[in-house]
Amino acid sequence: MSIIVLGIESSCDDTSAAVIRDGVLLSNVIASQDVHAEYGGVVPELASRAHQQNIVPVVDTALKRAGIDKHDLSAIAFTRGPGLLGSLHVGTSFAKGLSLGLRVPIVDVNHLHGHVLSHFIRREESDPVPEYPFLCLLVSGGNSQIILVRNYNDMEILGRTIDDAAGEAFDKCAKVMGLPYPGGPHIDRLAAEGDASRFKFAKPHIPGLDYSFSGLKTSFLYTLRDNLKLDPAFIDNNRADLAASLQRTIIEILMDKLDKAVKQTGVKTIAIGGGVSANSGVRNAVEQYCVRRGLTPFIPPRVFTTDNAAMVAIAGYYKYLDRQFCRYDSVPYARTSI
Ligand code: KG4
Repeated sequence: MSIIVLGIESSCDDTSAAVIRDGVLLSNVIASQDVHAEYGGVVPELASRAHQQNIVPVVDTALKRAGIDKHDLSAIAFTRGPGLLGSLHVGTSFAKGLSLGLRVPIVDVNHLHGHVLSHFIRREESDPVPEYPFLCLLVSGGNSQIILVRNYNDMEILGRTIDDAAGEAFDKCAKVMGLPYPGGPHIDRLAAEGDASRFKFAKPHIPGLDYSFSGLKTSFLYTLRDNLKLDPAFIDNNRADLAASLQRTIIEILMDKLDKAVKQTGVKTIAIGGGVSANSGVRNAVEQYCVRRGLTPFIPPRVFTTDNAAMVAIAGYYKYLDRQFCRYDSVPYARTSI
């Protein structure tokens, strides 16, 4: 009999539902929330209200697109954390209610596991998936980590940021350039037209595999401040070069530690995940690095880089196979690591 898992994601500002049958994706519906744009960041209270409005139609659409009747579900997987508590409560409560109504088990998913396991989402039976062990560079608005993935339930963080995440560096620098939130995609677009060698920004000297991005942010701010004194139109006149130079520096910082991790572990497969892995420069850099070193890259389709329920459904599917179900008195958590 087929195993059909409904995944629900509501950890931040995207309400998403997906259906996976025997590991193959049947549908993945994402409702983004425009309501935050005018505030320059996600407003938690508005996010949970929008999740409440979206969750029923999003789940309904995911089931319809998959051609699956809710009574045929084997399990419901949901993101339990980390994320915004109010937002997580919406997905968690909905999953519990539906599971009780349908008499199927619930499976709780760590959002970060979901990002790592997004490489196992198959659209066709024959789609390739990474072999264990592999290294995953997980880069998002809240995380910058190098993870050694030995199995779907055995992950070790080898390095993590000690301050800002890579996505924060993109977003905060974009904000001072007057770009809309989130700034990462705007920097990506501008960088394609700019001279990446024009500006030099500070790079961290942290031992081991940990990251730091706050020094880069400060150095970016100082460059703007010093130049704006001389030329009030400095940002407008140098937008593309600033974006390209910033992006190059972030990529160099990311790749430097990834290279160290590859040398330390001898692992031959490299995956990337999280919102920043949508960045064209990051994707190219990882791909070219793997070609040079004879490694196998796993670069996710862009739709699976940002928050989505397909990754929650696949992570839930593996836990379901292990009969790792969640209790009904489990509550969401705001923070955790892998
Ligand atoms: O994984 P994600 O959706 O959620 C969080 O952990 O917040 O990642 C969002 C982050 C934001 O910082 C956003 O600017 C960044 O991913 N991002 C990008 C790109 N697309 C999204 N950063 C650089 N280039 C992109 N194309």
